[in-house]
Amino acid sequence: MANDDKYPVESDRRRFVKGVVGGSVLSGVLATGAVTVSSATNPTGGGGGIMNYFGANRTLGPAPRGLPQIPMEINDDGELLGVWPEPESETLADGSEYVRSAAEIGGVEYTTEWYQYCGLQTFDGVVPDADGEDALFRYDAGGYDWMDDVSQGEAMLTEHFEDYDEFDTAIGDPGQGKPATGTWRSQNVPPEQTVPILVIKTDQIDLDEMDERTRNWIEASCPEDDDGGRYIAYVNKCTHFCCVPGYRNLGGAPDFGADNKIYCNCHNSVYEPFNPVEDQFVSLPRAGDN
Ligand code: FES
Repeated sequence: MANDDKYPVESDRRRFVKGVVGGSVLSGVLATGAVTVSSATNPTGGGGGIMNYFGANRTLGPAPRGLPQIPMEINDDGELLGVWPEPESETLADGSEYVRSAAEIGGVEYTTEWYQYCGLQTFDGVVPDADGEDALFRYDAGGYDWMDDVSQGEAMLTEHFEDYDEFDTAIGDPGQGKPATGTWRSQNVPPEQTVPILVIKTDQIDLDEMDERTRNWIEASCPEDDDGGRYIAYVNKCTHFCCVPGYRNLGGAPDFGADNKIYCNCHNSVYEPFNPVEDQFVSLPRAGDN
């Protein structure tokens, strides 16, 4: 697994592609609570520095923060996809330029820099202008028995989740929702650069319990289906040492109160799947920015 702390040098694969969200040119300034981050005062240049993001709340274990959430959309064909804003070139105060994918979603500045951890920043499919990568969520080899009915690489469809309210697994309580594991932006990259994702359709997200900012974000980033179920998606890579956690499919979960939670059995970190929180981490500077 790649785990370098450097952004890759420019490669031939990095080209401008159309994103899902129209080209929103953002200010590069994010104010949230007591923290204000500005690219003008960021000593590490474009893409580096303190980063606010929404993620699954870490409730137990050594993981330093939550799994980054992937804002979702459903297209006209009923396919599930992750938002990847159209890349834009930005000029920094020192005259250098860098390419960034960012958009405002539900009042929150979303940027694909949220995924600069665990070496993901070195993956060809995660650079803002990666060539040939679509935004669709695609099934992987199968984290759940029900996925025997779909094919690896097939796009995730809403029709596959219609039984979400009666879905059950050997671990946890029934009625929690229906999960799937998959990949994102990993169609044209080496296997070791695959981005694992977890998608859950559920009715367990309680908007009434959230503050207004979080509620607005969830309503905008977790699409609601016609039957009232809502989809939520995460990068399924533990923020501790980058293992792939499991949601109700790893046997040790009950020992750590994680029957209905996302559980990483490498060192027993637990994440709450239905109550995302705003968190921070220090993202890495982009090569050539300094
Ligand atoms: S708890 Fe250590 S890698 Fe997940």
